[in-house]
Amino acid sequence: VAPSKQSEESWVAPWGGATRWAQVKMIAAPWNPADLLSVHGVYPSPWERAEDPDGAFAEAIRFSAFEEGKIVAGSEGWGRVVKVYPDKEDSGTKVYVEPPSSSLKVGDFVVPGVSGLGTLRSSLWAPESHWIRLDRGQELFDALGPFTPAALFQTGGTAWRMLHDFFKLDSRGDVVVQNAGNSAVGFMVSQIAAAILNVPCISLIRKGNRTPTQVQQLQDYLKERGKATLVLPEESITKNSVAKLFESMESQHRHTIIDADTFEEHPLSVRLALNAVGGSSVNKLLLFLNNHGTVVTYGGMSREPITVDTSEFIFRNIDLAGYWHSRWMVQQYRQQEEQRRINSSGVEDARLTMMTALVNAVLDQRLECPPVQSFTLRDFQMALGASSEMATIRQKVVFDCQEDKPQSAPRKPSTKKNK
Ligand SMILES: NC(=O)c1ccc[n+]([C@@H]2O[C@H](COP(=O)([O-])OP(=O)(O)OC[C@H]3O[C@@H](n4cnc5c(N)ncnc54)[C@H](OP(=O)(O)O)[C@@H]3O)[C@@H](O)[C@H]2O)c1
Repeated sequence: VAPSKQSEESWVAPWGGATRWAQVKMIAAPWNPADLLSVHGVYPSPWERAEDPDGAFAEAIRFSAFEEGKIVAGSEGWGRVVKVYPDKEDSGTKVYVEPPSSSLKVGDFVVPGVSGLGTLRSSLWAPESHWIRLDRGQELFDALGPFTPAALFQTGGTAWRMLHDFFKLDSRGDVVVQNAGNSAVGFMVSQIAAAILNVPCISLIRKGNRTPTQVQQLQDYLKERGKATLVLPEESITKNSVAKLFESMESQHRHTIIDADTFEEHPLSVRLALNAVGGSSVNKLLLFLNNHGTVVTYGGMSREPITVDTSEFIFRNIDLAGYWHSRWMVQQYRQQEEQRRINSSGVEDARLTMMTALVNAVLDQRLECPPVQSFTLRDFQMALGASSEMATIRQKVVFDCQEDKPQSAPRKPSTKKNK
């Protein structure tokens, strides 16, 4: 499990300057669809040459590989700091400089602050600036255990950004629509829309080979636990059915669309559609989208291209945009590093603000982490099989980075509601 270059005994810092490094014992790391692309060698790097001029990140990634040219999968998860370097005991004859109080300490709970660290392993070293400390990490661990929180940060972060960065959504009238409503990101989108922004969310799912009973169970689950306002199988959506839906939603949500001060009515309006599927599923989303609205594509699960009628652009002024969380994380990282160079006290880190908001909302029981099922790293074949199954309730595969023993069957899924 531990890469040879990173074995605890023989580790030599590749660092030549004043960078502090932290060794993190990974607690658990989820398996995301993008990890498969990394394994196939087709997942692009969010690091532009211009963004990594001194090659520091490229060096850290090279260093984190098992051997030259091989990259470890895994971009998220969480862990605990077990060692920092340089530390007083490692200083030897060098003059030891006391680190700032914001520095990581042994025992801190952390999540990756940049993508591509290769988190599917028992422990790894990375520059301190590549980690984000969770101030309430211990509380999160005590409340939910090791596995459930592991899937919160990237799925919740992606959902959070897409709901905040494209429009300032207004609870007086805005409605969000998404496909893959049962995906881990989709589960977080509908909850953040409802619980944080007070905006209704329409989640589309696919029936696929689910029985009508299973579809009903999934719809009930996504409404109750995912806080989606409506959950609709996309196979049954037509232009007429969408018009009827909006009529009934307008009457049901009347209280949310009348301004309390001015009594002004705000008609329901879908400005934002989130697409994780591609192909014809986007055309279903477009049936909901208002003129001047935006489809944000963040995934392509169907592996089919998006075909949009010309009239959508000309007469309806629809925008097609994309979102990549890895790029956002890298941009924030660079901003922090630049600020630190200019002003050592730094500025507010948007990654930390967002992670803190997510953790607080989970601990306050306003948000629930996506359901997970855990596997040992050795059982990766069983785990990958489970991740591609079309289950009634989808559970994200999370690897236990500390347990090394072979397992005969997957552990009981931890779908328990937040306490
Ligand atoms: N851009 C970013 O920064 C970013 C960040 C995170 C995730 N993502 C992307 O977001 C998507 C969801 O990620 P996740 O981690 O939430 O995934 P997940 O929990 O594993 O869920 C996968 C989703 O895709 C659906 N799906 C699977 N195969 C499909 C197919 N052939 N056609 C249509 N739908 C299909 C599943 O529906 P069934 O249950 O019906 O199979 C499910 O809704 C992925 O494409 C992922 O790469 C992007």
